[in-house]
Amino acid sequence: MSSAPLLSVRGLNVQFTGERTAQALTDLNFDLAAGEVLGLIGESGSGKSVTLRTLLRLHTPATTRITGQVHVDGQDVLALKGAALQHYRGGVVSMVFQEAGLAFDPVYTIGQQIAQTIQAHEAVNGKTARKRALDMLERVQIPQAARRLDAYPHELSGGMKQRAMIALALSCSPRILLADEPTTALDATVQIQILLLLRELQRENAMSVIFVTHDIGAAVEVADRIAVMYAGRMVEDAHVQQLMTAPRHPYSAGLLASTVTSSSRGAPLPTIRGAPPDLSRLPAGCAFAPRCDHAREACLREAPPVEGNGRRALACWYPLESSGVPAAAVWGGAWSRCPYPLCVLSFQFSVITEIQVESCHDVTKPSPSPQPPVRRALW
Ligand SMILES: Nc1ncnc2c1ncn2[C@@H]1O[C@H](COP(=O)(O)OP(=O)(O)O)[C@@H](O)[C@H]1O
Ligand code: SF4
Ligand SMILES: [Mg+2]
Repeated sequence: MSSAPLLSVRGLNVQFTGERTAQALTDLNFDLAAGEVLGLIGESGSGKSVTLRTLLRLHTPATTRITGQVHVDGQDVLALKGAALQHYRGGVVSMVFQEAGLAFDPVYTIGQQIAQTIQAHEAVNGKTARKRALDMLERVQIPQAARRLDAYPHELSGGMKQRAMIALALSCSPRILLADEPTTALDATVQIQILLLLRELQRENAMSVIFVTHDIGAAVEVADRIAVMYAGRMVEDAHVQQLMTAPRHPYSAGLLASTVTSSSRGAPLPTIRGAPPDLSRLPAGCAFAPRCDHAREACLREAPPVEGNGRRALACWYPLESSGVPAAAVWGGAWSRCPYPLCVLSFQFSVITEIQVESCHDVTKPSPSPQPPVRRALW
């Protein structure tokens, strides 16, 4: 992994100025190295999708005020225009959307849409582009790929559409893939297959990925680092193991503690009281203060600065001690093999294994005969 970041974001602010003014992102600072996977987690409305859409320059300029700096491979992304911007979108940075069904154009076949994307970026003829589209469908393990090439989006299942979306996003070999909750709309078994596929493609291509999810288990399985967002700020950014075993921000610890694990079955699930603030009326102090058990007077007066270096960040006046955090006991931190007979998967955290195994295999059936739905081990 190279030491110079492939993506560097500094002082990024995004304000929507439509019917009401909303401060969607405030002072975002983070780096992403080549080949690194960053998981972005946080409650709904915390600014995860706005972050990705800003990186791809997808916001309507007339109603969006963006300040700060975004550099990809030294290129000033916020200054890109015309053909350079068109090449950047898809050729350098690409996106997988949550609802693949909405992202595809319903009146063109899957093959046409992938081939057209390739031709928009590269000087290849239609035959070559179609062959490349077929190769991509095979690479994302779509069964009967040649037949699916001429299928319309509505003719594919949810999991297949998401695979096709990944094929489309990777068709021009981007250096960075932005995946916005790519598995949220899918069944549990298909979710795991798509996660594995993404991880495999990321490793094959040494691609950098920002993976947005509200499923902490999914983030743990794919990410090297996890950044936690709250009310448009990155409140904590740390190596995955560090964040899972010893979160320092009370909001990160609250998110982890409120995640269902096998050991918490039967017991009341801790929750974070209250709700995120209205982004058009952010408080002067820490935006998490009304929900935080550790808040003191200083927290209400002034928002904590983000201390960090682009790869680690923490924004809290009174961070939790590394010991004594509620999540530490819950998240094991050890690699472990899937206990299902014949399954070749291994997972990073033992607690997650149990949850994922239950959704991946029917563990109530003792027979070892059926093949597990996922074919290869990736870890
Ligand atoms: N185009 C827009 N105009 C106004 N507000 C927006 C726009 N896009 C997103 N927002 C607001 O920005 C906030 C963050 O949204 P988003 O990034 O989509 O959240 P999430 O973390 O769930 O992905 C939300 O309050 C949302 O309503
Ligand atoms: S700054 Fe204060 S209110 Fe905000 S998270 Fe830290 S302790 Fe809680
Ligand atoms: Mg979102």
